[in-house]
Amino acid sequence: MVALATEYVIDVHHWNDNLFSFRTTRDPGFRFDSGHFVMIGLEVEGRPLLRAYSIASANYEEHLEFVSIKVPNGPLTSRLQGLRPGDPVMVSRKPTGTLVLNDLKPGKHLYLLGTGTGLAPFLSIVRDPETYARFDKIVLAHGVRRISDLVFAEYLEQTLPRHEYLGELVRDKLVYYPSVTREPFRHRGRLTDAIVEGSMSQFAGLPPLNPQTDRVMLCGSQAMLDDSCALLDGRGFQASPRTREPGDYVIERAFVEK
Ligand code: A2P
Repeated sequence: MVALATEYVIDVHHWNDNLFSFRTTRDPGFRFDSGHFVMIGLEVEGRPLLRAYSIASANYEEHLEFVSIKVPNGPLTSRLQGLRPGDPVMVSRKPTGTLVLNDLKPGKHLYLLGTGTGLAPFLSIVRDPETYARFDKIVLAHGVRRISDLVFAEYLEQTLPRHEYLGELVRDKLVYYPSVTREPFRHRGRLTDAIVEGSMSQFAGLPPLNPQTDRVMLCGSQAMLDDSCALLDGRGFQASPRTREPGDYVIERAFVEK
Protein backbone atom coordinates (compact mmCIF):
# COMPACT_ATOMS: atom_id res chain seq x y z
CA MET A 1 0.00 0.00 0.00
CA VAL A 2 1.45 3.39 -1.00
CA ALA A 3 1.58 6.05 1.73
CA LEU A 4 -0.38 9.03 0.45
CA ALA A 5 -0.51 12.71 1.37
CA THR A 6 -3.22 15.13 0.39
CA GLU A 7 -2.09 18.29 -1.41
CA TYR A 8 -4.24 21.09 -2.79
CA VAL A 9 -4.33 22.53 -6.30
CA ILE A 10 -2.85 26.03 -6.59
CA ASP A 11 -3.48 26.62 -10.30
CA VAL A 12 -4.14 24.83 -13.57
CA HIS A 13 -2.91 25.83 -17.02
CA HIS A 14 -4.52 24.42 -20.16
CA TRP A 15 -1.99 24.59 -23.01
CA ASN A 16 -4.21 23.14 -25.74
CA ASP A 17 -6.84 20.40 -26.23
CA ASN A 18 -4.31 17.70 -25.29
CA LEU A 19 -2.10 19.12 -22.59
CA PHE A 20 -2.40 20.85 -19.25
CA SER A 21 -0.19 21.42 -16.25
CA PHE A 22 -1.02 22.16 -12.64
CA ARG A 23 0.66 23.13 -9.42
CA THR A 24 -0.16 21.88 -5.94
CA THR A 25 0.92 22.64 -2.40
CA ARG A 26 3.92 20.65 -1.12
CA ASP A 27 4.43 19.11 2.28
CA PRO A 28 7.68 20.72 3.55
CA GLY A 29 8.88 17.24 4.57
CA PHE A 30 8.45 15.85 1.04
CA ARG A 31 11.89 15.42 -0.58
CA PHE A 32 12.77 14.36 -4.12
CA ASP A 33 15.66 14.42 -6.58
CA SER A 34 15.28 16.41 -9.80
CA GLY A 35 13.96 13.97 -12.42
CA HIS A 36 11.96 11.83 -9.99
CA PHE A 37 8.33 10.83 -10.41
CA VAL A 38 5.55 10.21 -7.88
CA MET A 39 2.17 8.55 -7.95
CA ILE A 40 -0.60 11.10 -7.99
CA GLY A 41 -4.31 10.74 -8.19
CA LEU A 42 -7.81 11.27 -6.96
CA GLU A 43 -10.26 9.39 -4.86
CA VAL A 44 -12.76 7.73 -7.20
CA GLU A 45 -15.69 5.83 -5.74
CA GLY A 46 -13.98 5.73 -2.37
CA ARG A 47 -10.68 4.35 -3.66
CA PRO A 48 -7.46 6.04 -4.77
CA LEU A 49 -6.94 6.09 -8.56
CA LEU A 50 -3.22 6.73 -9.03
CA ARG A 51 -0.78 7.14 -11.95
CA ALA A 52 2.91 7.98 -12.19
CA TYR A 53 3.76 11.60 -12.95
CA SER A 54 7.19 13.20 -13.24
CA ILE A 55 7.72 16.19 -11.01
CA ALA A 56 8.33 19.24 -13.20
CA SER A 57 9.02 21.74 -10.41
CA ALA A 58 12.44 22.32 -8.87
CA ASN A 59 13.28 20.39 -5.71
CA TYR A 60 13.69 23.66 -3.73
CA GLU A 61 10.33 25.18 -4.69
CA GLU A 62 7.44 25.34 -2.27
CA HIS A 63 4.95 23.85 -4.70
CA LEU A 64 4.82 20.73 -6.89
CA GLU A 65 4.14 20.95 -10.61
CA PHE A 66 2.95 18.27 -13.03
CA VAL A 67 2.34 18.09 -16.79
CA SER A 68 -0.43 15.87 -18.13
CA ILE A 69 -2.05 14.88 -21.35
CA LYS A 70 -5.82 14.74 -21.60
CA VAL A 71 -6.95 11.29 -22.62
CA PRO A 72 -10.59 11.28 -23.75
CA ASN A 73 -12.37 8.97 -21.29
CA GLY A 74 -9.06 8.33 -19.52
CA PRO A 75 -10.03 7.20 -16.01
CA LEU A 76 -7.70 9.67 -14.29
CA THR A 77 -6.90 12.46 -16.77
CA SER A 78 -10.54 13.03 -17.69
CA ARG A 79 -11.03 13.88 -13.99
CA LEU A 80 -7.70 15.64 -13.40
CA GLN A 81 -8.27 18.10 -16.23
CA GLY A 82 -11.33 19.40 -14.38
CA LEU A 83 -9.24 20.34 -11.33
CA ARG A 84 -9.73 23.79 -9.85
CA PRO A 85 -7.69 25.74 -7.32
CA GLY A 86 -8.34 24.37 -3.82
CA ASP A 87 -9.22 20.84 -4.95
CA PRO A 88 -7.42 17.98 -3.15
CA VAL A 89 -4.99 15.68 -4.97
CA MET A 90 -3.30 12.60 -3.55
CA VAL A 91 0.48 12.44 -3.82
CA SER A 92 2.52 9.37 -2.83
CA ARG A 93 5.22 10.00 -0.26
CA LYS A 94 7.91 8.01 -2.07
CA PRO A 95 9.33 9.73 -5.16
CA THR A 96 11.56 7.53 -7.31
CA GLY A 97 12.95 7.12 -10.83
CA THR A 98 15.94 6.61 -13.07
CA LEU A 99 16.37 10.09 -14.58
CA VAL A 100 18.78 11.33 -11.94
CA LEU A 101 22.15 13.04 -12.29
CA ASN A 102 23.78 10.59 -9.86
CA ASP A 103 23.24 7.73 -12.32
CA LEU A 104 25.40 9.47 -14.94
CA LYS A 105 29.18 9.37 -15.13
CA PRO A 106 30.86 12.77 -15.12
CA GLY A 107 30.85 14.43 -18.55
CA LYS A 108 31.02 17.79 -20.32
CA HIS A 109 27.72 18.03 -22.15
CA LEU A 110 24.32 16.85 -20.97
CA TYR A 111 21.61 16.11 -23.53
CA LEU A 112 18.06 16.00 -22.17
CA LEU A 113 15.85 14.46 -24.86
CA GLY A 114 12.12 14.51 -24.16
CA THR A 115 9.12 13.95 -26.42
CA GLY A 116 5.58 14.96 -25.48
CA THR A 117 5.11 15.02 -21.70
CA GLY A 118 8.62 13.56 -21.49
CA LEU A 119 9.71 17.17 -21.06
CA ALA A 120 8.40 17.21 -17.48
CA PRO A 121 11.31 15.66 -15.53
CA PHE A 122 13.74 17.87 -17.44
CA LEU A 123 11.93 21.01 -16.34
CA SER A 124 13.01 20.05 -12.84
CA ILE A 125 16.56 19.16 -13.91
CA VAL A 126 17.19 22.47 -15.73
CA ARG A 127 16.07 24.35 -12.62
CA ASP A 128 18.58 22.50 -10.42
CA PRO A 129 21.89 24.37 -9.81
CA GLU A 130 23.59 20.96 -9.48
CA THR A 131 23.03 20.35 -13.20
CA TYR A 132 25.03 23.48 -14.05
CA ALA A 133 27.75 22.55 -11.54
CA ARG A 134 28.27 19.18 -13.27
CA PHE A 135 28.11 20.12 -16.96
CA ASP A 136 29.52 22.85 -19.23
CA LYS A 137 26.61 22.71 -21.65
CA ILE A 138 23.07 21.39 -21.28
CA VAL A 139 20.94 20.79 -24.37
CA LEU A 140 17.24 20.51 -23.59
CA ALA A 141 15.52 19.06 -26.67
CA HIS A 142 11.73 18.83 -26.76
CA GLY A 143 10.18 16.91 -29.64
CA VAL A 144 6.46 17.33 -30.31
CA ARG A 145 3.91 16.94 -33.07
CA ARG A 146 2.55 20.50 -33.14
CA ILE A 147 3.79 23.93 -32.12
CA SER A 148 1.08 24.24 -29.47
CA ASP A 149 2.53 21.10 -27.81
CA LEU A 150 5.72 23.03 -27.00
CA VAL A 151 4.62 23.59 -23.43
CA PHE A 152 6.83 25.86 -21.32
CA ALA A 153 8.59 27.21 -24.46
CA GLU A 154 8.16 30.81 -23.38
CA TYR A 155 9.27 29.95 -19.85
CA LEU A 156 12.43 28.26 -21.18
CA GLU A 157 13.23 30.99 -23.72
CA GLN A 158 12.25 34.10 -21.80
CA THR A 159 11.66 33.53 -18.10
CA LEU A 160 14.33 31.04 -17.00
CA PRO A 161 17.24 32.99 -18.58
CA ARG A 162 16.11 35.96 -16.44
CA HIS A 163 15.76 33.91 -13.25
CA GLU A 164 17.09 35.78 -10.24
CA TYR A 165 19.64 33.13 -9.21
CA LEU A 166 19.91 30.72 -12.14
CA GLY A 167 19.64 33.23 -15.00
CA GLU A 168 23.36 33.70 -15.57
CA LEU A 169 24.07 29.94 -15.57
CA VAL A 170 21.11 29.34 -17.88
CA ARG A 171 22.24 32.02 -20.36
CA ASP A 172 25.76 30.63 -20.31
CA LYS A 173 25.04 26.88 -20.44
CA LEU A 174 21.48 25.96 -21.43
CA VAL A 175 20.48 25.45 -25.05
CA TYR A 176 16.77 24.87 -25.67
CA TYR A 177 16.05 22.92 -28.85
CA PRO A 178 12.32 22.62 -29.59
CA SER A 179 11.43 20.50 -32.61
CA VAL A 180 8.08 19.94 -34.32
CA THR A 181 7.23 17.03 -36.63
CA ARG A 182 3.80 17.76 -38.08
CA GLU A 183 3.83 21.50 -38.79
CA PRO A 184 6.33 23.92 -40.30
CA PHE A 185 8.72 25.18 -37.61
CA ARG A 186 12.29 26.47 -37.35
CA HIS A 187 13.45 23.02 -36.16
CA ARG A 188 11.50 20.38 -38.03
CA GLY A 189 11.65 16.60 -37.46
CA ARG A 190 12.27 13.93 -34.86
CA LEU A 191 14.97 14.36 -32.23
CA THR A 192 16.64 11.13 -33.30
CA ASP A 193 16.98 12.50 -36.85
CA ALA A 194 18.33 15.80 -35.53
CA ILE A 195 21.07 13.82 -33.77
CA VAL A 196 21.88 11.64 -36.77
CA GLU A 197 21.91 14.61 -39.17
CA GLY A 198 23.93 16.64 -36.68
CA SER A 199 21.53 19.59 -36.63
CA MET A 200 21.00 19.45 -32.86
CA SER A 201 24.66 19.49 -31.86
CA GLN A 202 25.46 22.07 -34.55
CA PHE A 203 22.77 24.35 -33.20
CA ALA A 204 24.28 23.97 -29.71
CA GLY A 205 27.78 24.62 -31.08
CA LEU A 206 28.91 21.14 -30.05
CA PRO A 207 30.61 18.25 -31.87
CA PRO A 208 28.53 15.17 -32.79
CA LEU A 209 27.40 13.11 -29.79
CA ASN A 210 30.12 10.86 -28.40
CA PRO A 211 30.43 8.87 -25.17
CA GLN A 212 33.76 10.43 -24.16
CA THR A 213 32.24 13.82 -23.40
CA ASP A 214 28.46 13.51 -23.60
CA ARG A 215 25.78 12.22 -21.25
CA VAL A 216 22.13 11.71 -22.18
CA MET A 217 18.80 11.44 -20.42
CA LEU A 218 15.83 10.14 -22.41
CA CYS A 219 12.13 10.41 -21.66
CA GLY A 220 9.46 9.59 -24.22
CA SER A 221 7.31 6.90 -25.77
CA GLN A 222 8.58 3.32 -25.98
CA ALA A 223 9.24 3.78 -29.71
CA MET A 224 11.25 6.95 -29.06
CA LEU A 225 13.26 5.20 -26.34
CA ASP A 226 13.92 2.14 -28.53
CA ASP A 227 15.17 4.24 -31.44
CA SER A 228 17.22 6.56 -29.23
CA CYS A 229 18.86 3.67 -27.35
CA ALA A 230 19.75 1.97 -30.63
CA LEU A 231 21.28 5.21 -31.88
CA LEU A 232 23.29 5.79 -28.68
CA ASP A 233 24.36 2.15 -28.36
CA GLY A 234 25.58 2.34 -31.95
CA ARG A 235 27.82 5.23 -30.95
CA GLY A 236 29.27 3.32 -28.01
CA PHE A 237 27.19 4.83 -25.20
CA GLN A 238 26.41 2.56 -22.24
CA ALA A 239 23.07 2.74 -20.46
CA SER A 240 23.12 3.00 -16.68
CA PRO A 241 22.50 -0.59 -15.59
CA ARG A 242 19.95 -1.61 -13.01
CA THR A 243 22.66 -2.07 -10.39
CA ARG A 244 22.62 1.75 -10.31
CA GLU A 245 26.19 1.95 -11.55
CA PRO A 246 26.56 5.33 -13.27
CA GLY A 247 26.43 5.12 -17.08
CA ASP A 248 26.60 7.34 -20.17
CA TYR A 249 22.84 7.59 -20.42
CA VAL A 250 19.62 6.92 -18.50
CA ILE A 251 16.08 6.35 -19.73
CA GLU A 252 12.51 6.49 -18.51
CA ARG A 253 9.21 6.05 -20.25
CA ALA A 254 6.99 9.13 -20.33
CA PHE A 255 3.90 8.12 -18.42
CA VAL A 256 1.01 8.41 -20.83
CA GLU A 257 -1.61 5.70 -20.45
CA LYS A 258 -3.94 7.57 -18.20
P1 A2P B 1 6.03 11.94 -35.29
O1 A2P B 1 5.08 13.07 -35.45
O2 A2P B 1 6.91 11.75 -36.48
O3 A2P B 1 5.36 10.66 -34.83
P2 A2P B 1 3.92 11.27 -29.43
O4 A2P B 1 2.91 12.33 -29.05
O5 A2P B 1 3.40 10.23 -30.38
O6 A2P B 1 4.65 10.67 -28.25
O7 A2P B 1 5.02 12.05 -30.24
C1 A2P B 1 5.74 13.12 -29.74
C2 A2P B 1 6.88 13.41 -30.67
O8 A2P B 1 7.78 12.29 -30.67
C3 A2P B 1 6.42 13.60 -32.11
O9 A2P B 1 7.16 14.66 -32.66
C4 A2P B 1 6.78 12.27 -32.75
O10 A2P B 1 7.08 12.38 -34.13
C5 A2P B 1 8.03 11.91 -32.02
N1 A2P B 1 8.34 10.49 -32.09
C6 A2P B 1 7.48 9.46 -32.19
N2 A2P B 1 8.14 8.29 -32.29
C7 A2P B 1 9.45 8.59 -32.26
C8 A2P B 1 10.64 7.81 -32.34
N3 A2P B 1 10.59 6.50 -32.49
N4 A2P B 1 11.83 8.47 -32.27
C9 A2P B 1 11.87 9.80 -32.15
N5 A2P B 1 10.79 10.60 -32.08
C10 A2P B 1 9.59 10.00 -32.14
